[in-house]
Amino acid sequence: MEFSIKSGIPEKQRSACVVIGVFEPRKLSLPGEILNKAANNHVSDLLRRGDMEGKAGTTLLLHSVPGTLCDRVLLVGLGKERDFHEKEYLEAIATAVRTLNETGAFDGTIYLTELAVKKRDLGWRIRQAAMVATAALYRFDRFKSKKDQVRRPLRKLTLAVESRADLAVAENALAQGLAIAEGRSLAQDLGNLPGNICNPSYLAEQAQQIGRTHGLKVEVLERADMEKLGMGSLLSVARGSRQPPKLIILRHAGGKQDAAPIVLVGKGITFDSGGISLKPGAEMDEMKYDMSGAASVLGTLQAAAKMRLPLNVVGVVPCAENMPGGEASRPGDIVTSMSGQTIEILNTDAEGRLILCDALTYAERFEPESVIDIATLTGACVIALGHVASGLYANNEGLARDLLGAGEDAWDRAWHMPLWEDYQEQLKSPFADMTNVGGRAAGSITAACFLARYAKKYRWAHLDIAGTAWRGGDKKGSTGRPVPLLTHFLLTRAGLISA
Ligand code: BES
Ligand code: MN
Ligand code: ZN
Repeated sequence: MEFSIKSGIPEKQRSACVVIGVFEPRKLSLPGEILNKAANNHVSDLLRRGDMEGKAGTTLLLHSVPGTLCDRVLLVGLGKERDFHEKEYLEAIATAVRTLNETGAFDGTIYLTELAVKKRDLGWRIRQAAMVATAALYRFDRFKSKKDQVRRPLRKLTLAVESRADLAVAENALAQGLAIAEGRSLAQDLGNLPGNICNPSYLAEQAQQIGRTHGLKVEVLERADMEKLGMGSLLSVARGSRQPPKLIILRHAGGKQDAAPIVLVGKGITFDSGGISLKPGAEMDEMKYDMSGAASVLGTLQAAAKMRLPLNVVGVVPCAENMPGGEASRPGDIVTSMSGQTIEILNTDAEGRLILCDALTYAERFEPESVIDIATLTGACVIALGHVASGLYANNEGLARDLLGAGEDAWDRAWHMPLWEDYQEQLKSPFADMTNVGGRAAGSITAACFLARYAKKYRWAHLDIAGTAWRGGDKKGSTGRPVPLLTHFLLTRAGLISA
């Protein structure tokens, strides 16, 4: 879909549909008042007669409104004005876009981006509108032979700003919002692809493709390369599968040549059967999302390149399939990681940390400003935080604060979890330097504690996205999170949005 920014009064828009917000009870937003005056109180008369209350989530489509140049006016309920905050704003945009798509209007002009949202400036409102609109229209129907055709889908969306003086800021925010939205859609597509298609080799090819299109340097390490590097832990996970592992490295060199890069490390398990510690059958299909961390790194690097961020960013993406083949690791096996630390594998289903630990050691060579890993790491994190917040762990307070802030700003929130030494106890092994599982208690924390042992040489944070990267139930599918959080973090680091 095409997006644009426009300033100008609603009744003069030649758009197929103009979208106006209505607060509860029956109160037109400011652009609505202006349109209503031109329409000789046509709209306020309808409201007074009780055609619409203005409750959040409701809509009313009007045809041939007098005094206007548009074909239709869509009223969107906003709820009570004093309760109108970020969540309500985002939902109103989503409702507007979904309804526009269904009403047969080819183009729409939205007058919701002018509404005041507490603590949020115009740049935020436009960026978010682009992201929400894209997400609202996202479909994954590649494998449906009959697509659910929308009769006349929305082709063009115009976001209205109050005055010409707002245009430059809004255009800039729109470009950012679209780059983030595309990065997120990419992550969603990769997440939704099944394991028989999206395997490690596929991810490596996609990375090369993204690199060519967006000007990122991409390098792929093969099994033999990893053997030379001594990545015994990563390699042990791939052994049960026919699919060879890949270690993808992407570079966005937008900063000064000698500026230390931010390194993003993403878990790329393209299917997690559990290995010999086989998972139960129910919902095992959802383990195709176990490469969502990898997908978020690809999406974020694509967005960084697209926005030409003046930063150096490196993506390190270890990819493997966790399967119970004849060569698969057995519970009790001991492997040696690239760091030299040995690991007793008590449960082959705790494979994410086994591929991440070697990737974290590999990240040392970039002499990073900071390293952030992103992983669908533990079911325990879903139990703790559900599908709302990602679990955030860090060995540095400043980094944690910046990531939490980016999550708030992007409306892709994380919650700070403890990484205290006390939890390290649970990883003690009688035979090796550590076990790969810490028992049932505090499962998300002990997983983070495991990773922390490989991230001592730099500022590091870990996002457990097991609950946020995908949704189950009737809206089943990948969410593309935390691409918004990560891109906002980079935008802030680049000084392009203020923290
Ligand atoms: N990929 C899973 C974590 C997961 C579970 C993600 C549910 C999304 C939804 C991970 O590899 C895993 O299996 N973790 C185990 C760890 C346990 C064996 C210590 C878990 O959470 O059960
Ligand atoms: Mn697992
Ligand atoms: Zn996994």
